[in-house]
Amino acid sequence: MKFKKTIDIVLAFVLLFSLAACANSNTANQKQTSTESATTASAASSATSAENTTGGKKSIVIYFSGSGNTKRVAELVANETGSELFELVPTTPYTDDDLNWRDENSRVIKEHNDPSLQNTELTSIKVSDWESYDTVLFGYPLWWREAAWPVNSFVKGNDFSGKTVIPFCTSTSDGIGDSGSKLAQMAGTGTWQDGMRFPENDDESSIRDWARSLNLK
Ligand SMILES: Cc1cc2nc3c(=O)[nH]c(=O)nc-3n(C[C@H](O)[C@H](O)[C@H](O)COP(=O)(O)O)c2cc1C
Repeated sequence: MKFKKTIDIVLAFVLLFSLAACANSNTANQKQTSTESATTASAASSATSAENTTGGKKSIVIYFSGSGNTKRVAELVANETGSELFELVPTTPYTDDDLNWRDENSRVIKEHNDPSLQNTELTSIKVSDWESYDTVLFGYPLWWREAAWPVNSFVKGNDFSGKTVIPFCTSTSDGIGDSGSKLAQMAGTGTWQDGMRFPENDDESSIRDWARSLNLK
């Protein structure tokens, strides 16, 4: 009888310890769950504040320029619209000789005559924080009435979904024509506008006026 009482007491202790251990592990699980939901909440709130700081509108000027005319326009447009600037730089830049379309042995003439040579490699086609831009101003010189092909790998290699794309070009005499809509087709994503053409050495004031008319600031 005394022996049974001892066993009962031992069993009672074992039961007590198991209950206590179980309660501890529940608290630990609850703690972990509440830490996880705190992390999720803080991630959500920082995403919201990032949207607020940009006011939901952020623009970038992306351009290629062989001899500097488009670069000048791109810089003025970025300045007037408060946009970031991103230059498309060929891994092998075009020299003046390369750009001489009057010389049948020049690089541009060879590339023009053989489209397989038109996949100009660029030093980078990745814009950091690309998703955050809702407007892309896209600048290029006209080459044979089309967007100069060094822009192609950027257009093919990026997703323009949800973005408004505003093409602009510089040229000696030709208008922008269908150069922008051909880029839109190449991209397959994004809402591409008709765009704008500037003469080679256009007045700074006309470029600024156009940029201001976009109401991006
Ligand atoms: C290879 C090549 C082809 C060109 N083709 C045209 C053309 O078809 N129509 C035109 O009006 N200008 C043409 N131009 C002139 C350029 O579009 C113009 O000089 C442009 O402003 C150059 O811009 P960039 O200095 O940014 O390279 C051509 C220039 C080059 C080098």
